[in-house]
Amino acid sequence: MNLDKFIINGGNSLKGTVTIGGSKNAALALMPATLLASGKYQFSNMPELKDISTMSRLLEMMGVDIEKKGDEVRLNTFRVNKFEAPYEQVKKMRASIYVLGPLVARYGYAKVSLPGGCAWGPRPVNLHIEGIKKLGAKIEINQGYIIAEAKRLKGARISFDVSSVGATGNVLMAAVLAKGMTVIENAAIEPEITALAEFLVKMGAHIDGIGTTHISVEGVDALQPANETMIPDRIEAGTFLVAAALTGGQIRLEKCNPSHLTSLITKLEETGSKLQMGDNWIKIKSPKIPKAVDVTTAVYPGFPTDMQAQWLSLMSVAKGASVVTDAIYFDRFKHVPELIRLGANVELNRNTAFVKGVKQLKGAKVMSTDLRASASLVLAGLVADGKTEVLRVYHLDRGYERLEKKLKSLGAKICRVAGKEY
Ligand code: UD1
Repeated sequence: MNLDKFIINGGNSLKGTVTIGGSKNAALALMPATLLASGKYQFSNMPELKDISTMSRLLEMMGVDIEKKGDEVRLNTFRVNKFEAPYEQVKKMRASIYVLGPLVARYGYAKVSLPGGCAWGPRPVNLHIEGIKKLGAKIEINQGYIIAEAKRLKGARISFDVSSVGATGNVLMAAVLAKGMTVIENAAIEPEITALAEFLVKMGAHIDGIGTTHISVEGVDALQPANETMIPDRIEAGTFLVAAALTGGQIRLEKCNPSHLTSLITKLEETGSKLQMGDNWIKIKSPKIPKAVDVTTAVYPGFPTDMQAQWLSLMSVAKGASVVTDAIYFDRFKHVPELIRLGANVELNRNTAFVKGVKQLKGAKVMSTDLRASASLVLAGLVADGKTEVLRVYHLDRGYERLEKKLKSLGAKICRVAGKEY
C-alpha cells in the first residue's frame, strides 16, 4: 500500500492561480454508463485520480478496453463479457455499485458485491436495490453479493424516501433501457446527476425533468456511444477556496463552475472573504482572520457534506464560536480528534461540532481514514505553527489530483515524502 505522507510548514498565505480538474463523482457515474451501449467513447477533462483508476480496473475486468492519454480517456465496450463486480474492487471504492443498473438493464444480469460500511460509518445501498427491484429485476443477496436478473426491465414509479445521488444515478441508468415510462421522485439534483442525465440523452435516452427532483424517463430499445467533457470538480474548487480563506490568501480558480458552489460562496462571504466570479472562474480575497459562521450540510444546492471537514478546519481558527452540523452523514467526523491534536477547540455531540476558534493551531503528526477528512488536515496544516505531517495521503490521492503540487504553486510549503510503513 502506498503510505506517502505530506510534510507541511504552516504560515504562508496562498496567492496565485490554480486550475480545477474534472469532477471525480461525475466521471465515476459516466464511466459505468458506457456499459449501456457497445462501442467507443471518449471522455475529456478527466481527473487523474486513484478512484478513476479503480473504476477503470473494474470496467476492464468486465471486458472494457480503456486507453488513457493526458486528460482523455477512451473506452471501448465492444467486448464486455463479464457482469460481475467482485468484493476486492467494490471494497476499494463504493461507487463501484454504479455498474449494477447498467449491467442489469443491458445484459439482464449483474453480480455486484455489497459495499459494506465505510471509514466513517454505515452507508446503506438499500435505495439502489429497491429502485432496481421496482424496475422488475429479481434480486437476491447471496454471500455478500447482490445478484440481479431481468429479461427486460419495466418502467415504474420510484419515490425515494431519502435523496440519494448514487441511487438516483443507478436507477436512471437502468431506466433508460427499461420498457415504458419510469418516474423518479425525490431524485437527487446534484450537478453530477445532471451531468449523467445529459450524457445519457447524448446516448439517445429520453429523459425529462433533468436537474429537478422529478425525473421521467421513457425507455428506449437501444442507446449509442457518445463523447463527453467532464464538468469541473466542485469539491476540489471548494477545497481551494477554503484553503485561501484559512490562510488569508488571495487566489483565482480557473476552469471551475461558480454556479455549482453558491452555498459555499455565500458562507465564505459571511466569513469576510470577498469573491468575484465569471462563467468559469472565481477570485477570492480573504481577511487575515475569518469570522465564525455556522453551517449545516444539506442536499444540493445546500452546503455539501463533502465540504464539512474543510469548513471545520476554517472554523478552528475563526474569530468566535460556530456550530457545524452534518445532516447527510451523521458520523462523518473522523477529522475532529485529529484537528484537536493540532490544537483546535471542538466538541462533538452526535452530528454537530461546536467549535471555538483559536488564535493558532500547532503542527503535529495527524492522519485520517477518509478523503475529505484528510483534506481538512492538510488545510489545517497550512496555518498551523511549525511542522504538520499528514500521514496516509493515499486517501487524498483518491480525490485530489496533485494536491501538494497545486498548493505549492500557490505558495504553500508542502512536500510529499515517499512512504514506508511508519
Ligand atoms: C455521493 C458522493 C459523495 C457525497 C454524497 C452526498 C459519489 C461517488 N459520491 O455518495 O461524495 O458525499 O453523494 O452528497 O458521487 N442512503 C440510504 N440508502 C441508500 C443510499 C443512500 O439511506 O441506498 C442515504 C445515505 O446514508 C446518506 C444519504 O442517503 O445519508 C445520501 O447519500 P448518497 O447521496 O446516496 O451518497 P452517495 O451516492 O453514496
